[in-house]
Amino acid sequence: MTTLTPDTPVFVAGHRGLIGSAFARRLRAAGFEQILTVPRAELDLRERPAVEAWLQEAKPGLLVLCAGRVGGILENRDHPADMIAENLAIELSVLPAAQKLGVPRVIFFGSSCMYPRECPQPMPESALLSGVPEPTSLPYALAKLAGLEMCRALNAQYGSTRFYSVIPNNAYGPGDDFDPESGHVLAALIQRIHAAKASGAEHIDIWGSGRPRREFIHADDIADACCFLLEHCEDPAHYPINIGVGGDVSIGELAERIAKVIGFAGQLRFDASRPDGAPRKLLDSSRLANLGWRHAVSLEDGIRETYAWYLSQRTEETTG
Ligand SMILES: NC(=O)c1ccc[n+]([C@@H]2O[C@H](COP(=O)([O-])OP(=O)(O)OC[C@H]3O[C@@H](n4cnc5c(N)ncnc54)[C@H](OP(=O)(O)O)[C@@H]3O)[C@@H](O)[C@H]2O)c1
Repeated sequence: MTTLTPDTPVFVAGHRGLIGSAFARRLRAAGFEQILTVPRAELDLRERPAVEAWLQEAKPGLLVLCAGRVGGILENRDHPADMIAENLAIELSVLPAAQKLGVPRVIFFGSSCMYPRECPQPMPESALLSGVPEPTSLPYALAKLAGLEMCRALNAQYGSTRFYSVIPNNAYGPGDDFDPESGHVLAALIQRIHAAKASGAEHIDIWGSGRPRREFIHADDIADACCFLLEHCEDPAHYPINIGVGGDVSIGELAERIAKVIGFAGQLRFDASRPDGAPRKLLDSSRLANLGWRHAVSLEDGIRETYAWYLSQRTEETTG
């Protein structure tokens, strides 16, 4: 990275999460010596005075805001108020505090849920705010859109900040949330298909028709893309920028691939009476590709690695 040096302190907020842990790994691999983290129990990022005090002390040269209230379709259905309130609270606290305390760079994570439900596919950055997002994740999407606009507004009003918004598509990888209730589709499917195999089930019922198409990107690739952008794209005017792999799969195909990795030979039954969500959510990542970035982890390899991590955690739970 030309703009950051290995002795630049980098605050990874939300370091225990899927993307935050990948970011910390990526920075460590790049030789960063001061990766600053703080447990949520010690610093609730919704509390602005506490955040200001922490930033005053830590003086990071880059803040990577990976903290947020995140979840799949069930989490969005059952906790819509938490999804909007917690994400807004974190943004309202951290982003202005970072500006006030002179943190020069922030990376803010948007989400593909911010795009309109009826968006042309693949979805270019220019389509943001051209229509209404999918209703099932609207509270989350609106909070994320507010964060994105907050970054843009702080850059415009103060001129001294370089706050970048990035829009990764569905992330997965080690550290994912495998809970079928709160987790995203890929991790939840790993958990459910593993459980079906372990119990000797002949079939598994999967919510929805299996037809919606989704794009999946490994968390390590997201962290790598952000580091690439910091090095190659200094101008905040280029942001927000999509981070995707340039291809998607149907949920049915995804379930088949996961079943193959896990070795589940039973039937995958799709329950079309359950909600599907948006029909397709493929990002147009050509701006990032034109800058020269490409993902490294194939979906097959990523599923295999994520499943291996899931198994290792289960072993730890049973032995530890
Ligand atoms: N996952 C995806 O598919 C995806 C896709 C696009 C964008 N994003 C965005 O990327 C960011 C990271 O997502 P992720 O999947 O890595 O999320 P995650 O795995 O759920 O991790 C979120 C992290 O935020 C922390 N956190 C939440 N509320 C906090 C608070 N009030 N104070 C301090 N820490 C708090 C959590 O701490 P604990 O560990 O203590 O709970 C956790 O470490 C989010 O902004 C999300 O919207 C995610």
